[in-house]
Amino acid sequence: MSEQLTVAMPKGRIFEEAADLLRKAGYALPPEFDDSRKLIVEAPEANMSFILAKPMDVPTYVEHGVADVGVAGKDVMIEEERDVYEVLDLKISECYMAVAGLPGYTKSDINPKVASKYPNLATQYFKEQGEQVEIIKLNGSIELAPLVGLADRIVDIVSTGRTLKENGLVELETMIPITSRLIVNPVSYRMKDEQIDDLVERLADVMGGEQR
Ligand code: PRP
Repeated sequence: MSEQLTVAMPKGRIFEEAADLLRKAGYALPPEFDDSRKLIVEAPEANMSFILAKPMDVPTYVEHGVADVGVAGKDVMIEEERDVYEVLDLKISECYMAVAGLPGYTKSDINPKVASKYPNLATQYFKEQGEQVEIIKLNGSIELAPLVGLADRIVDIVSTGRTLKENGLVELETMIPITSRLIVNPVSYRMKDEQIDDLVERLADVMGGEQR
């Protein structure tokens, strides 16, 4: 039997869709995969071992080679700039990155502040826009920042738009579309090329089938 693949999976919103895609591609994943609080789950029938990580950390596990492959959002890939190959757009967990703020927001020249979980991406964006801002890094619930006066605007992902709406915020600028990607450690790609090519092919087949 060929060598086992270690897969880094993001816990949270992407997880279910990614697991669904793997199952459709013919990989038998154990039931405990979905519900348990275990951080390492073995899937012997699929010849895979899974690391369940925070989404932002998936590229780190893959870059360091403790996972051969992983599923990571494009948002995380841009933010983290890790040395990994992005081999397939899985076209799941579609959302987009946007600048948002309170309704009626107008740009002021006095020390504008932007809160985000994506400080690198936000810095780059405002640099390209030629606007000088102070980026305040938060780890979640970013929408809180303008409500309590911590920042004027936020840079965050928008999926259904519900979080913005329910917190009385509006989208000010649409930035980039986001989907999840299959990423690969460069050394693993050489050492386990057959298994990885097979994985990519099977996932691409399922996705092709879904589009038809
Ligand atoms: C994300 C994102 C927004 C929200 C957008 O947060 O940061 O807050 O989802 O989704 P929506 O447009 O469907 O409302 P997440 O739920 O991942 O948690 P976090 O706030 O802890 O980052």
